[in-house]
Amino acid sequence: MQSLLQNASEILRENDLGTYTVPTHGLYPFQWNWDSCLTALGQAYFDEERAWREIETLFAHQWEDGMVPHIIFHKEDDGYFPGPDVWATGRDVPTSGITQPAVAGFAIKRLFDRAKDRELADAKARALLPKVKAWHDWFFANRDPQGTGLVAILHPWESGRDNSVDWDAAFERVPTDGVLPFIRRDLQHADADHRPTQAQYERYIWLVQLFRSLDWDNSKLHDASPFQVVDPGFNGILLRSCMDLADLADALGEVEVAESSRAQAGKGIAAMDTLWSDAHGQYLCQDRVLGELIDSPSVGGLLAAFAQIPSERAAIIAERITKIAELVNYLVPSHDPASSDYDGKRYWRGPAWLIVNYMISDGLSRAGQTAVAQRIAQSSVKLIEQSGFAEYYDPKSGEPCGGTRFTWTAAMVIEFISQTQLE
Ligand code: GLC
Repeated sequence: MQSLLQNASEILRENDLGTYTVPTHGLYPFQWNWDSCLTALGQAYFDEERAWREIETLFAHQWEDGMVPHIIFHKEDDGYFPGPDVWATGRDVPTSGITQPAVAGFAIKRLFDRAKDRELADAKARALLPKVKAWHDWFFANRDPQGTGLVAILHPWESGRDNSVDWDAAFERVPTDGVLPFIRRDLQHADADHRPTQAQYERYIWLVQLFRSLDWDNSKLHDASPFQVVDPGFNGILLRSCMDLADLADALGEVEVAESSRAQAGKGIAAMDTLWSDAHGQYLCQDRVLGELIDSPSVGGLLAAFAQIPSERAAIIAERITKIAELVNYLVPSHDPASSDYDGKRYWRGPAWLIVNYMISDGLSRAGQTAVAQRIAQSSVKLIEQSGFAEYYDPKSGEPCGGTRFTWTAAMVIEFISQTQLE
């Protein structure tokens, strides 16, 4: 365990560019939103100040309307597509124009609770609190215009589960005509069999071009997008962050932020029940354009357990994971291994990801499902012992896939080892 911790810390340092950390050199040479928030949890073990800075840097690039972009292009690097010229968001330091799972509220609460330097934590959390609140408010104003309590993603990349089977049917509505010619860069760094197909890539870019033609005006994007999906995993993360922000605000004496955040969490969690599927024993995505659930049993519907869902739902999700475990050697596959769409090596269509494991395990543990939570933690560490610090893994063979020496994988290993009594 000691050598795993040491290797993990080395990876965090190696990918640290001073004020932000790249997910891995080469494949992802900039700052990614949810990567940074989860990375900070690992950094805090050896340098609390550095951990706070990771999140501060991200929020220094928050848009005026409250959105926190999914990528900050701190410096030029033509090894990545789509780069700043494709997004054309007109920012001084270029950013993408879409967002990512709102895990910051959870992360800063966790940093705050564990901080040894209390004075630093108090100052940092106090400064970040209104920014995170503004991001949450942005979500409900711009991505839930009907006030349902749940927000929609408008691009698969917003989900963080970029290439999931969940998006396939709704993605059919996204045309590809008028897509300007482009050269993918991901295939220079990773195996094409592990990455999205060309047809998917053209649709990704078509959406970017549509939003760009609307000048990235977030008040227009939701209704204009042919792709609007309510993802239980994405909402679970946001709602957990709302609840954690409420608790943090209480601790800091910020009564209004606490009340408003608690109301957002309560409303969302109640609405989440509309995504429940008895047949699958988990939550499903909803295609908001059609008003229908999407029959795709992915890990998004298990990740919802990161929020404070009803305990009977958490128990069924724990049971479901136990069943899934009979079909794989490593938890938690990003898609149901019994489904014909399952692909153990293609990203988000089967492989296991440590960040997702961490959040599911944390949520289940809070819901009292400690045996399954512990099992996920053990499986995660075993995977790293056997296969190293990859981006993601084949849940049957354990083969490492995608990028190598991966930052958030390293951060999660530190979390798992430090927080659970692993043998
Ligand atoms: C991939 C993942 C996304 C992550 C990014 C950087 O695009 O799908 O969730 O943020 O890589 O690691």
